[in-house]
This record gives sequence, C-alpha cells and structure tokens, in this order.
Amino acid sequence: MVIGNPGSAARGNPAGEADRAWIEREQDQARAWEAIGARYDEAFPHKDGQLAMVRTMLELMPPGARVLDIGSGTGLPTARQLTAAGCRVTCLDISPRMLGIAEQNVPEAEFVLGDVMDLSADGPGFEAVTAFFVLLHLPREKVRTALGLIGEVLVPGGWFAVAMVEGDVDDVPITFLDSRIRVTGILRDDLRTLLSESGFAVEHERVLSYAPETSSAKPEIQMFFLCHKADERS
Ligand SMILES: C[S@@+](CC[C@H](N)C(=O)[O-])C[C@H]1O[C@@H](n2cnc3c(N)ncnc32)[C@H](O)[C@@H]1O
Repeated sequence: MVIGNPGSAARGNPAGEADRAWIEREQDQARAWEAIGARYDEAFPHKDGQLAMVRTMLELMPPGARVLDIGSGTGLPTARQLTAAGCRVTCLDISPRMLGIAEQNVPEAEFVLGDVMDLSADGPGFEAVTAFFVLLHLPREKVRTALGLIGEVLVPGGWFAVAMVEGDVDDVPITFLDSRIRVTGILRDDLRTLLSESGFAVEHERVLSYAPETSSAKPEIQMFFLCHKADERS
C-alpha cells in the first residue's frame, strides 16, 4: 500500500485548478483536526456502537489480521481495541496531531500521515478496513471513489466496517467543536446502495441516536455497517 501526504496523488501530476483546490481543501480539513485534537474524545466519549461493531468483526477475522484504520483520530477506541485483540493495525489520518495522540494511546500500531483519497493498493492487502466517521468529511462524489479505493486495499473476502452520520447534505461547512469543517450526510438507504454498488455485501447494520457531551456539536443519527468484500474468485 502506498499512502501519501494530503493531496499527494494530485501533486504527482502537473496540478490543475481542480487539484490545487482539492489540496487546499484537504489542508483546511487537516488544520481543523489539528485544532480539535483530544477535544474530540471529550465530546464523544461513549462509543458503544463502534465497539460492538468491531467486536462482531473480530469474531469473523483470522487471528493476527492486518487492519487499516482510516481516519483513526486519537486511536480510541478502535485502534486500541484491534491491537488488544492481536490485530496488526495501521492508523491512517490526515492530521499529524491526531496521529501523535494515537501514537501515545496505541504505541503498538503503525502510523501513516495521509489522505484516504491517496490510498493505492500495493502489497499484501488488509484483512479488514475500518472507517468510523471519516468518509463524512469527503464530498459525496468522492465517498464513492474512496469506497472503490478501500475495496482495492482489501484482500478478497476482507471486512469493512464503516460509520457515517445520517443526513442529506453534501460537503457543507459547519462549525464543529469551534472549528470550521466540511461534512457530508448520506441517507441510510443511499449508503446501503452505495456500499453494494462498490462491491460490498452488508452483513450487519445498526443505527443509533447520539447526543455529544457538548453544545459545540449537534445530536446526530449514527449508522454502522459491517460489510464483506465479495470474493471475485467465487
Ligand atoms: C470524526 S474523527 C473520527 C476518529 C475515529 N475514527 C473515531 O471514530 O473516533 C475523523 C478523523 O478523520 C481524519 N480525517 C479527516 N479527513 C480525512 C481524510 N481525507 N483522510 C484521512 N483522514 C481524515 C481527521 O483528522 C480525524 O482524525
């Protein structure tokens, strides 16, 4: 797997207007997360849905599985839960500060600074990918592209756990924990369809309402999907 710094895929080509705009956008998103840091865990301390989905996934995976945690944030709870279960975890995040906090929380993991949009398959692949509340930071059209890239880094039959916030907005700026950040909400049925069109079979699905522990973030409906990548050989 090759993962570059935010916007590096675009930087490989003579950057056109659209590429430059994308790089700047992602740098703004990364800056917002640099400011948020550990406040994220203070605002969202209860992760029962996420923990339960990873527990289910762990029961289905081979021991010592290689797992890519995209948008790993502080490494809590997911990277820690996975390493505690014996998985070999790679944390990928666009924010150096979030990766630094994750490294303190989960020293056993590997850490890669990069953008999910720069993922490229090269090497043995992962038995599982987790992407909890990270794809919601992409415009809707790029969520589809990201799902395709995730499919490419997964081994045939690999597992994909994803969480999004339900909504019908595309790449809107919001104030979140006092930072400006862009978010996309997808409706439940549309996300299910998108996953299926991207080559994933949904095996488990859960929807929860969540009230953050702060008035600087709004209550939300969280959707968790555990999917199985179709084995092309079968
Ligand atoms: C809402 S937090 C979720 C953190 C963690 N997955 C969790 O559930 O606790 C989103 C994380 O995704 C990272 N992120 C945002 N856009 C990203 C991108 N395009 N590629 C990789 N990471 C990204 C942010 O820096 C942040 O750490």
